[in-house]
Amino acid sequence: MTACIVGWSHGKFGKLDGETSESLIVKASTEAIAHAGIEPKDVDVIYVGNMNGGFVRQEFHSSLALQTHPDLRFKPSTRVENACATGSAAIHMGLNTLAAGKARFVLVVGVEKMTELNSTQAGEVLIKASYVAEEANIEAGFAGIFGKITSAYFQRYGDKSDALAKIAVKAHKNGAKNPYAHFQKEFAYEFCRNPSDKNPFVAGPLKRTDCSPVTDGAAAVILTDVTTALGMKQAIAFRAAEQINDFLPMSKRDIIKFEGPALAWKKALASARLDLLDLSFVESHDCFTSAELIEYEAMGLANPGEGERAIHEGWVERDGKLPVNVSGGLKAKGHPVGATGVSMHVMTAMQLSGTAPGALQLPKARIGGVFNMGGAAVANYVSILEPLR
Ligand code: COA
Repeated sequence: MTACIVGWSHGKFGKLDGETSESLIVKASTEAIAHAGIEPKDVDVIYVGNMNGGFVRQEFHSSLALQTHPDLRFKPSTRVENACATGSAAIHMGLNTLAAGKARFVLVVGVEKMTELNSTQAGEVLIKASYVAEEANIEAGFAGIFGKITSAYFQRYGDKSDALAKIAVKAHKNGAKNPYAHFQKEFAYEFCRNPSDKNPFVAGPLKRTDCSPVTDGAAAVILTDVTTALGMKQAIAFRAAEQINDFLPMSKRDIIKFEGPALAWKKALASARLDLLDLSFVESHDCFTSAELIEYEAMGLANPGEGERAIHEGWVERDGKLPVNVSGGLKAKGHPVGATGVSMHVMTAMQLSGTAPGALQLPKARIGGVFNMGGAAVANYVSILEPLR
């Protein structure tokens, strides 16, 4: 263990009219600093996770974090971007900075303001996280990429629409318990399973209820070294943190194998000296329900082509042997891309410290896993977290 999360904050995710990425950064940073019980002057280095790419006109975000407090003026602050894994990328930069001895306290804030654009325009921004030279003409934005992946999976292993609908139902059932979630209501299985006016096909076999929504939001963490963390109010330690990047073009990979995610999980579990089922729960990157399905296989919960067993047999439900996305995941909580990875770490820290709000708290949360993915299994981050004491 080399570093800990010692403070965090999580705003409500959703369509946040009246908020800007600046206001979201300032609120999340203020609350995380206060939660850690430190002063703004104690922050040595700042990372701002923001994908942007045209969601908002303001591209240059790093110094917006300085607006949090006058004492942050002149602190080094850098914007980090790694597509939908931007939040975890920013956290990993913070971990590297601590490991290099360049800071005692690092503020990491992840933010995205997506809803100034409609879904079609947002799709045009998100498709930039594909291999544009070959993939940008796929219809329906990034949903089109996953529509293609899902079709390929169905071709090899059979139609898994029942499993996808059940994954959506699980996400919304969990999201209904999460006061920070974009959607806080349950969806019936029949609604998710059958196409309708309210649940049309979006791309290939994927319907609206198979997609994460277009969302605004921010979350922040304060990181420090273990020695300092021992004297703090709360401390959640990184038992492992691994990053694996794969080739960007889908044409260079067997895309339904998710080899990058599988390797990230393998390395993280090995470095934590744990088996997957030693984890109490996992927050996994369900940008689409089919992504979650394939991730069951990548994390080693099910054999290739058998991911559906994890949902059909209840393994990944809140009370299953490995609850996945008790927060509601990207599907229900929302997926403000730059904030998502930070949000996953905050949700995990809340569970492990026993401070998740109300019914969201799991009865037994000892060790938590986070898997955050940028692009179609391209930038892959796994963190394994546990309380320091
Ligand atoms: N899941 C469930 N319901 C959704 C939803 C989603 N993902 N997105 C929107 N809705 C609901 C809205 O709340 C609204 O409900 P209401 O009529 O009760 O108010 C209704 O559907 C219509 O909303 P709208 O925003 O007009 O839908 P849309 O068809 O324009 O957009 C998607 C839906 C799925 C196309 C859009 O959310 C999307 O593009 N998601 C993918 C985002 C993405 O690619 N992220 C990156 C992943 S790597």
